[in-house]
Amino acid sequence: MIRERAAPDQVFALGTVRLSTDPLHTVHALDLELPAGRLTAVTGVPGSGKTTLVLDSLVPALVAHTTGSALPSHVHAVDAARITRVNVVDATPIGVNVRSTVATYSGVLDDLRRAYAQTPEARELGLSAGDFSYNTGSLKCPRCEGTGQVSLDVQFLPDIDIVCPECDGSRYSPEADPIRRTPSHGDTDDALTLPEVLALTVAQAMDRIGDIRRIHTRLQALIDLGLGYLTLDEATPALSGGEAQRLKLASELHRNQSDALFIFDEPSVGLHPLDVRTLLEVLGRLTGNGATVVVIEHDLDMIANADHVIDLGPGGGELGGDIVATGTPDEIADTAVSTTGRYLRAHLTRAAR
Ligand SMILES: Nc1ncnc2c1ncn2[C@@H]1O[C@H](COP(=O)(O)OP(=O)(O)OP(=O)(O)O)[C@@H](O)[C@H]1O
Ligand SMILES: [Mg+2]
Ligand SMILES: [Zn+2]
Repeated sequence: MIRERAAPDQVFALGTVRLSTDPLHTVHALDLELPAGRLTAVTGVPGSGKTTLVLDSLVPALVAHTTGSALPSHVHAVDAARITRVNVVDATPIGVNVRSTVATYSGVLDDLRRAYAQTPEARELGLSAGDFSYNTGSLKCPRCEGTGQVSLDVQFLPDIDIVCPECDGSRYSPEADPIRRTPSHGDTDDALTLPEVLALTVAQAMDRIGDIRRIHTRLQALIDLGLGYLTLDEATPALSGGEAQRLKLASELHRNQSDALFIFDEPSVGLHPLDVRTLLEVLGRLTGNGATVVVIEHDLDMIANADHVIDLGPGGGELGGDIVATGTPDEIADTAVSTTGRYLRAHLTRAAR
């Protein structure tokens, strides 16, 4: 097991989220119970109704509950006393253009701009934090306007984006180069320019700029998410789905989550087994901070590590739409009518050997 599951008799000890629905699409009228503060996997063969139940019924019902608006017409009751925030975390790209980077999205660049504005060189030149923005500041590369790329007009072909030859992709003009910041516990040999810092990975940056308390916290969150290998200037739209999904949690790891419910639709799709392990650790951090987490999952490792499983089926389409089994992964594995249970039994047996 990768994470420590709740003891079987403690799964519902922190409270229960209840949902009661009329039929929708192929999903029958259901009464659903989720343990608060735990990791629940919603499972079932393709077409069994997982997405319908979670994204078309549970999420709109909870959103209505938290905003005080009317419930969806097919939902007749929802009881989620302590939940005031619903967060659907999907794997869609972050940002639409190359101006969104790991540094901007995580908030690290805001803190860095302030730190660079306080260096003696910047004060002497009368530069403020705003000047250090590669989007709107005076130090941005004039050729690429701070995108780090320029469009190459090739005859008969669509434009090709290449690394800006002027700034070498650093996004800054040479005027940023004399402005160096020395870490509070370093000497001038450790001084770096802002473009040099942005070229570092998150893990490297921890050594070089981690002396700034707010930045330390932000970088630590990225490292905890298994993203320490990303460079700060990496454009977020180019991240993989799994990376984007985890990055979206960067501001969520270090706060109390007992009023929050997180939903993930197949978060493990396309992930390497090592990434599945990281994802489980991240989900464990969320529940550790009190969050109620629901994942729609096919991955047996993910399912085996959940505190509670709700298995839909028995088949897909018209043959599905019912709750076949609920309980701990071991209880599901012992349920003969559950297809998921059969696979889970084999998986748990293999894992135990
Ligand atoms: N908007 C809709 N209108 C009518 N039927 C729908 C609609 N959305 C889904 N269905 C049907 O409801 C059934 C359940 O679909 P759903 O997407 O909930 O399954 P799922 O368990 O999430 O499957 P998968 O594992 O493939 O994602 C399917 O037979 C599907 O065709
Ligand atoms: Mg689905
Ligand atoms: Zn440039």
